[in-house]
Amino acid sequence: MITVESVSKSFNGKPAVDHISFQAHDQEILVLLGTSGCGKTTTLKMINRLIAADSGNIIIDGQNIRDKKVEELRMGIGFVMQHSGLFPHYTVKQNIAVVPELLKWEKKKTISRTEELLYKLHLSEDVLSRFPGELSGGQQQRVGIARALIANTPVLLMDEPFGALDNITKADIHTEFKSLEELKNKTIILVTHDVQEAFELGHRICLMDKGKIVQTGTPKEMLYHSENDFVNDFFAENRLLLEYKIATLKDISSFINPENKDDEFNFEETTSVWNALQKLSSDHKNTAHYENLIKAFNDYRKLQIV
Ligand SMILES: Nc1ncnc2c1ncn2[C@@H]1O[C@H](COP(=O)(O)OP(=O)(O)OP(=O)(O)O)[C@@H](O)[C@H]1O
Ligand SMILES: [Mg+2]
Repeated sequence: MITVESVSKSFNGKPAVDHISFQAHDQEILVLLGTSGCGKTTTLKMINRLIAADSGNIIIDGQNIRDKKVEELRMGIGFVMQHSGLFPHYTVKQNIAVVPELLKWEKKKTISRTEELLYKLHLSEDVLSRFPGELSGGQQQRVGIARALIANTPVLLMDEPFGALDNITKADIHTEFKSLEELKNKTIILVTHDVQEAFELGHRICLMDKGKIVQTGTPKEMLYHSENDFVNDFFAENRLLLEYKIATLKDISSFINPENKDDEFNFEETTSVWNALQKLSSDHKNTAHYENLIKAFNDYRKLQIV
């Protein structure tokens, strides 16, 4: 769906993005992950031509973005700006209606779609008449997401969309985000510097450093087939937690003692080992199950690390 081919951008002679190449597939969430200043925002902005690339090609749905009119290109892309990017002198309602106005939607359609999105994003309707400055950072970000979703574009670019949320709210929003029907058939590129967020949401991850892509792969590939020490070190601090989160009950099922198998799982097989352990740990009756799972996970894990 989106192909980025050897794209570069320098500011005042200093490379911000340096010959990067990657692809985001149809219906995929691709995460651009990296520390501050590594070029994530610059990369995202080049995809909808908020910034012009110095060299290289960006192809969306078979067409080079340079050959498209900017307005036409942006009609097909929902963009969530870092720090929400809302217009401060527009009310929330006006902010959300920017694209529908451009598309000349009927007022009724805009209103009903706005209400639907507010509901899905857990915002109450009384925010509509307020200005962005009268909302919390997390609320502003959710309005930013509503604005990007309203026209139901096939491509969604999101720059740190959950950056202003605390960890507890973030965990809830991640779960909801993954289950939003709205997002199911889109191609999404999501920028974050939060390793756990990248693993929770990304089908694949592009790890960036100093304007370059160091490795692209699934969460499992990043952990168990890291291409160099940089990748390994980047995940070292969270490694065990990440391993628990990406392993599913299905992955470890052949390592579970068959005697314990049938009563072990009222869980779906796609449940992560981490979530299963969390549920089991809240009840003392489950100690044996809990220990069995840990043992199975450890046996599974030994075979992943080469
Ligand atoms: N308009 C600009 N003029 C000059 N330098 C810029 C400009 N925009 C970005 N840069 C520089 O390019 C580099 C990459 O910036 P970018 O905003 O893409 O990083 P980022 O990965 O999004 O960082 P963060 O996680 O802090 O948002 C940085 O060194 C930044 O200072
Ligand atoms: Mg940025």
